[in-house]
Amino acid sequence: MKSILVTGGAGFIGSHTVVELHHAGYLPIIIDDFSNSHPKVLEGIEEIIGQAPIFYEGDCKNPIFLRSVLDQHPELEGCIHFAAFKAVGESVENPLKYYHNNIGSLANILSEMNRKEIHQLVFSSSCTVYGQPTKLPVEEGANIHSANSPYGYTKQVCEQMIRDLQSSGTPISSVILRYFNPIGAHSSGKIGELPLGTPDNLVPFITQSAAGIRGGLTIFGSDYSTPDGTCIRDYIHVVDLAKAHVSALKWTSKNPSKCEAFNIGTGEGKSVREVIDTFQKVNGIELNVKLGERRLGDVEQIYASGEKARQVLNWEPELSLADALADAWCWQQNLSLQE
Ligand code: WQD
Repeated sequence: MKSILVTGGAGFIGSHTVVELHHAGYLPIIIDDFSNSHPKVLEGIEEIIGQAPIFYEGDCKNPIFLRSVLDQHPELEGCIHFAAFKAVGESVENPLKYYHNNIGSLANILSEMNRKEIHQLVFSSSCTVYGQPTKLPVEEGANIHSANSPYGYTKQVCEQMIRDLQSSGTPISSVILRYFNPIGAHSSGKIGELPLGTPDNLVPFITQSAAGIRGGLTIFGSDYSTPDGTCIRDYIHVVDLAKAHVSALKWTSKNPSKCEAFNIGTGEGKSVREVIDTFQKVNGIELNVKLGERRLGDVEQIYASGEKARQVLNWEPELSLADALADAWCWQQNLSLQE
């Protein structure tokens, strides 16, 4: 059973990936500092996979902690690195927090992988590296514009760090996964998105508004040059996204000393209004919605070409927007029951 280090493994995408790694016959070793996640996620993972995951609480920015974990697991064969901050708005207000954490953590991970001769890396990147693409659907070879935020810039720097390490002749095989908009939850209702505080993202705000935890939903801008005036995004079910990490890991084991980036999205753009309407229809709930001003930093529309991931990783999404919004609501209801 191949052991895989999963940093940020108690997070939204990390926890779903831990489940899929287990189902695929891997042994996940989780590191998380709970700076943007909660210990009860580990209980949810245990309920799904039937055993307590191997877990170490700590910060990847701390090289002594990181080394202590890797020295306890000489059998580690790969790493999936999620641990990073991801709130675009917060990164503008507090850029150093993002530079220290997102870049510093990856630098430690790469150093330790080098030292321990761990040669397989899957890196959590983001479609924010593209900015507002000039051509849609956006392909991996699209021009990388200057980032719209310090968060997006940290992802661009991290991608370059990985390429530079690989170009230096280090025998590392890396896959860079550029996520679009991850949404939804595991169908069991045991794990899902757990935003700390008021959600920045659309879908958790919708579910919390529907649950009465938040007031009405505001659509940030209805005067964009899109069919219904609202922004368009590529919403991908988090379980499909988690499975893409397993496919990527398998690819690194068969393609030594390579570095490839892949878009992980559905290939379909959906507007804010379409998401709201689908949520209401699928769950039989009427939301309280009002129109508001545009949000600074938003791109008008972005959605992925998923062709490279289909061809090279043999991965494609299986779940729909409706599936994701039904699963998100089921998770929110379970959360409310736990409180
Ligand atoms: C989607 C749309 C908002 C809330 C996120 C992450 C980013 C990256 C991609 C990981 C936008 C609108 C939102 C609300 C609204 N993920 N909206 N009312 O901004 O595309 O980016 O996913 O790397 O890091 O931040 O996602 O869900 O915040 O917004 O109208 O209350 O919904 O304006 O058009 P975004 P989002």
